[in-house]
Amino acid sequence: MPTGTNETGRRDWASDAVSGLIVLIAVALAAAAAIGGFFLGRDTKHTQAVAASSSTQQASTVDPQVASGAHLFVQFACAQCHGDLGKGDVSPDVPALTKVASVLTAAQMRHIINHGLGESANPTKPYMPVWGAVISNTQVNDLVAYIRAGLPAVPTATPPQVPQGQGQAVEGATLYVSYGCINCHGPNGLGGVPNPQAPDRSIPPLSGQAFRAQFNTDAKIIDVIRSGSVIGKAPIVSMPHWGGIVPPDRLQALVAYLKTLK
Ligand code: HEC
Ligand code: HEC
Repeated sequence: MPTGTNETGRRDWASDAVSGLIVLIAVALAAAAAIGGFFLGRDTKHTQAVAASSSTQQASTVDPQVASGAHLFVQFACAQCHGDLGKGDVSPDVPALTKVASVLTAAQMRHIINHGLGESANPTKPYMPVWGAVISNTQVNDLVAYIRAGLPAVPTATPPQVPQGQGQAVEGATLYVSYGCINCHGPNGLGGVPNPQAPDRSIPPLSGQAFRAQFNTDAKIIDVIRSGSVIGKAPIVSMPHWGGIVPPDRLQALVAYLKTLK
C-alpha cells in the first residue's frame, strides 16, 4: 500500500469533498424539516422527537437538571436497587420508581431520600438507605426532577462495565464504584466522609490496620456487606443491607478488591 503519495492525497481530498457535501445535504434536510415542522405545528412533534432521538444531538435536548438526576441515579447506585431506569425487578423488597411520582409529592420524595425508609433493623432485607449526610440538597432536587420526568434514558448515564476474566480484584474495584460504596467509604476505601451524628463522626474506612484487625476474615467482611450494621436512626447514615442485591460471586469480588487496599 503506497502511503503519502499524491494519489492518496487526492483521494482523501476527494472523499473530504464528498463527506462535506453529505454534511451540507444533511444540514439542508434538517433545516427543511425544522421549517416544515414550524409550519405544520403539533402534528410533526412526534416525528421530530423520533429524529432527535436517533441523532447524536440527543444529549443537548435533555433538560440539564433531569440529565444530572439520571447520572446521580447511577452514581449513588439507586439503579442497582431500584433497577435500570427505576423499573424494579432487582429484589421483591425494593419497589420500582416508575409510578412513585404520581403517588408522592416532591417534598415526600426528598424526605425519603434524605431520611431513608423501611426496616433498617432487619438484617435480612434491604431498606432505603439514609442519604442526608452524603447527598447535597441540589443533588436530591436533581434526583427528584429525574424521577418526576419519568426516569428517561440519558446517554452515558450507565454504570461502568464490569471487566470479565481479569481476576476478582479487578472486578471488585469496578463494583466498588457501581454499587456506590465509593460515595460513602471514599476512593481507595480511605473513609472520611462526614456522618456528623455518628459516634465517630465519619463513615469508616475500609482500609488501614483497625479495619484489618476487626474484619480479619472474608466471612466477616461478607457478613457486614450483606447484613449492614445499623448505628442509629436518620440523620445518621448506616451501612445499607446488600443481601439479595449484590450476588454472592460479586460479594467475593468486592472482598478481593478490599484486600488489595492499603
Ligand atoms: C440498598 C438498596 C437501595 C438503594 C441503594 C436505594 N434504595 Fe430507594 N428504596 C429501597 C427500598 C428497600 C425501599 C422501600 C422501603 C420501604 O417501603 O420499606 C426504597 C424506597 C424508595 C423510595 C420510595 C418508593 C415508594 O414507592 O414509596 C424512593 C423515592 C427511593 N427509594 C429513591 C431512591 C433513590 C433516589 C436512590 C438513590 C439515591 C435510592 N432510592 C437508593 C432500597 C434502596
Ligand atoms: C450510604 C452510605 C454507605 C454505602 C453506600 C456503603 N456503606 Fe459500608 N458502611 C456505611 C456505614 C455508615 C458503616 C459503619 C456502620 C457501623 O459502624 O455500624 C459502614 C460499614 C461498612 C463495613 C464495615 C466497616 C466497619 O468498620 O464497620 C464494610 C466492610 C462496608 N461498609 C462495606 C461496604 C461496601 C462493600 C459497600 C458497597 C457495596 C458499602 N459499604 C456501601 C455506609 C455505607
